Amino acid sequence: MQTEACTGEAKTEKLKVKEALQAEAIGKRVLLQGWVRTRRDSKGGFSFIDLTDGSSIKGVQVIAENKLPNYESEILKAGIGSSVEVVGTVVASPAKGQTTEVKAECVKILGYSDPEKYPLQKKETSMEFLRSIAHLRTRTMTFGAVFRIRNEICRSIHNFYQSRGFMYVQTPVITASDCEGAGQMFKVTTLDLQNPPLKESENKKSEIDFEQDFFGRATHLTVSGQLEAEIFATAFGNVYTFGPTFRAENSNTTRHLAEFWMIEPEVAFCDLEGDMDLAEEFLQTIFKDVLENCPEDIAFLNEKVDNTIIETLKGIVETKFERLTYTEAVEILIASKEKFEFPVEWGIDLQTEHERYLTERKFKKPVILTDYPKDIKAFYMKLNSDGKTVRAMDVLVPKIGEIIGGSQREDNLETLERRMKECGLNPEDYWWYLDLRRFGTVPHAGFGLGLERCVQFVTGMGNIRDVIPFPRAPKSCDF
Ligand code: 4AD
Ligand code: MG
Repeated sequence: MQTEACTGEAKTEKLKVKEALQAEAIGKRVLLQGWVRTRRDSKGGFSFIDLTDGSSIKGVQVIAENKLPNYESEILKAGIGSSVEVVGTVVASPAKGQTTEVKAECVKILGYSDPEKYPLQKKETSMEFLRSIAHLRTRTMTFGAVFRIRNEICRSIHNFYQSRGFMYVQTPVITASDCEGAGQMFKVTTLDLQNPPLKESENKKSEIDFEQDFFGRATHLTVSGQLEAEIFATAFGNVYTFGPTFRAENSNTTRHLAEFWMIEPEVAFCDLEGDMDLAEEFLQTIFKDVLENCPEDIAFLNEKVDNTIIETLKGIVETKFERLTYTEAVEILIASKEKFEFPVEWGIDLQTEHERYLTERKFKKPVILTDYPKDIKAFYMKLNSDGKTVRAMDVLVPKIGEIIGGSQREDNLETLERRMKECGLNPEDYWWYLDLRRFGTVPHAGFGLGLERCVQFVTGMGNIRDVIPFPRAPKSCDF
């Protein structure tokens, strides 16, 4: 094994594979570091190594001649997955489909990988299998593309809000309040689960005494940073959160995770119209950025995963979203005479099949539904004058269904207190939230974008577990 660095005295430039693939690199003496994707040995006395380092979907072809001193002893043993360091010159490639290749003057093997045992083989492997090796699936072309796009989406999101003067606010992961009120929270406790302290409740039953718990009260992982974001919005005007959220909903679907990331902008002096405008421009910007900045990754996924994504994304960037009320949507669904698994009537929570009918069959574009029945939405949404519906809005997209959920917030103190009680919440627990209405209340609105739903939509991946690095779902928490 060579221990000396390959570089020697002569000038070398350390490049990423992505950079070595560009024509501008031709003629440079470079250092590349990465992993062997494939190695092909030619009878002509040299080997072709497809080298990747995660910087692009394409690897660079490295040509190692048998004249290299460690050719027989080391290079011929460097199988798929081995880590290598290469010094060589970037030259124009005579081969089709690539601009450059690298003529190696030194190939140093940093770590061997036994090709017989390496779990990632050249043949197609199922997504389920790859999920079981999430520590290695990142090296595949598909997951390379997905995670580079996920990164671009995150960059685009921060850029969108920062360039518009929104303040990034970090809301707590551990909380004592329940934003969505759907009873889907993970408890956080340091109490001894074998032997928790008990106390007598009001109805003479014994219950766990959370006053003796770490925080002196019952706490859980947050389902949303919205309530805290409202505190910041009513001081700084325009803010957004970007963080992990947790929901213990036992839904084993391709669109639900127990831990997912959410982006929640909150805007003061804003009504539902402004909220919808922001959501629409936000999604269009993300899609445009991905098309512009990840063309190769998107082209790869369009070929291998879902051949409609490019067309769909391009269409959405240029089209206005359809906007209609929940009540109008229900009328359309009933009139459609479609055989839905869940029959439609006013008051039901729309299911994915209904959302997909509206986006894929009826309007063939994203749809924003507004003014849902108050009974199927959270306590904080602004009550309409009909007393039955609230100023909610959900953005629905083809294949996924709901990608964004948001609303104008109830800014009237009395109405909010009444809604809390109706929803079984104790207003005293939310004294600080009510204070925002007591002292200088303003109309304000916001929404939450599920990051993984967004990545799933953009990449065309069938299962949400394949667009987050380490998925957490019922009965599944590996890595
Ligand atoms: O509609 P939701 O529940 O809205 C809220 O949490 C509000 N507090 C947001 C706000 O107004 N600030 O969730 C928002 C989005 C959904 O539209 C969906 O994209 C995503 O979060 N989401 C999930 N993503 C993955 N797995 C789950 N279990 C999800 N639940 C919601
Ligand atoms: Mg929702």
